[in-house]
Amino acid sequence: MAEATGLLDAGERLGARELRALQLERLRASLRHAYTNVPFYREAFDRAGVRPDDCRGLGDLARFPFTTKADLRAQYPYGMFAVERTRIRRLHASSGTTGRPTVVGYTENDLSLWSDMVARSIRAAGGRPGDTVHVAYGYGLFTGGLGAHYGAERLGCTVVPASGGMTARQVQLVQDLRPRIIMVTPSYMLTLLDEFERQGVDPRGTSLRVGIFGAEPWTEGMRREIEERCGIDAVDIYGLSEVIGPGVAQECVETKDGLHVWEDHFLPEVVDPVTGEVLPDGERGELVFTSLTKEAMPVVRYRTRDLTRLLPGTARTFRRMERVTGRSDDMVILRGVNLFPTQIEEILLRTPGVAPHFQLRLTRAGRLDALTVRAEARPGASAETRDEAARSVAAAVKDGIGVSVAVEIVEPESLERSVGKIRRIVDLRPRPA
Ligand code: DLL
Repeated sequence: MAEATGLLDAGERLGARELRALQLERLRASLRHAYTNVPFYREAFDRAGVRPDDCRGLGDLARFPFTTKADLRAQYPYGMFAVERTRIRRLHASSGTTGRPTVVGYTENDLSLWSDMVARSIRAAGGRPGDTVHVAYGYGLFTGGLGAHYGAERLGCTVVPASGGMTARQVQLVQDLRPRIIMVTPSYMLTLLDEFERQGVDPRGTSLRVGIFGAEPWTEGMRREIEERCGIDAVDIYGLSEVIGPGVAQECVETKDGLHVWEDHFLPEVVDPVTGEVLPDGERGELVFTSLTKEAMPVVRYRTRDLTRLLPGTARTFRRMERVTGRSDDMVILRGVNLFPTQIEEILLRTPGVAPHFQLRLTRAGRLDALTVRAEARPGASAETRDEAARSVAAAVKDGIGVSVAVEIVEPESLERSVGKIRRIVDLRPRPA
């Protein structure tokens, strides 16, 4: 249990039985809300032959239809809203890489819930009222910046709303304003650490003690890299716009063993990504969320495409989700072998002489797809070290993942730097006509 139970909010103090009862009551209300107020849900439930009242136990949720990103796109912009437009206080949009974005809306209560969940997350990460929090997630339609911002204020922190970009100035701000906490994508944190070193400042000597990193997959190897270079505790925060934004799940600093899902408000399931069958806790599959208390845009069984598994709670009663290894969309299928960018990240981080700045280039020669891993050399790595690194990365991919790839070790600082969510895969294959 958390070190000082006095610090936990009412939801975090629920016992397992009370939690299940609360979830069921909220689930039934949320299904009714969606069915009554969103024609999309009414039609989907009717088609599946289920009514909100058919949900008598948490297991009955499996009888309800899934909602997908494509469904949200088809309802663009406001079709998923369950309240009068005048009650919507904020809109955000998810970073659609293809086609229309998806718009999400919040009532006053939704914004308050979101702030509470992010405040809870920052506290779980080790933040306390009075701390200064440097927010380097992007501000704007992306939920990262504003989500972190209002959560930190809710907890009683001082916020530095730095947003992403202007990297040299970020380093200056950290030195001058002395934040204890930084919230940023792990890839942009690496960019910041390089900038500290470029300016001749040892990041271990700064005021930073905690980093709350999310919005993209990252690995244990990356945690070690960041913790060692910066002398901080690095913890994982998860969320998605469709569910609320950051603050759906958070890793606790005292255990660093995966993310506790704030399941008094967001009910998780893990399903087989192909058959849609609900999997028991402990089995890996696709994460699915049902919101329990959201007003403006309730989601019912939303398919995140994120792959993980559910595990029992440790530092909290809530179940944990294992760190997300990748999204089904980011999976490269190379000559029949599935490969995630995070697997490459792990390998690079244990190879001497290479930095964790990398890109995966997909090309096609004839009918065969090929993958080139382009990774930067660490500054000062000799030509021999680089050659050895290229050989050893290729061998580790072949042995560990089971597929041959080309590896290029490129000059330090030659790959594009992230200022937010990084794009690891560059797909240069010809598009099908
Ligand atoms: O990325 C919300 C967020 C902001 C989370 C800041 C954490 C910190 P979207 O832009 O809608 O929302 O993207 C959501 O990002 O489905 C995952 O694929 C990925 N993602 C988010 N957090 C993590 C994480 C925000 N901790 C999508 N680990 C999600 C791995 C993550 N992937």
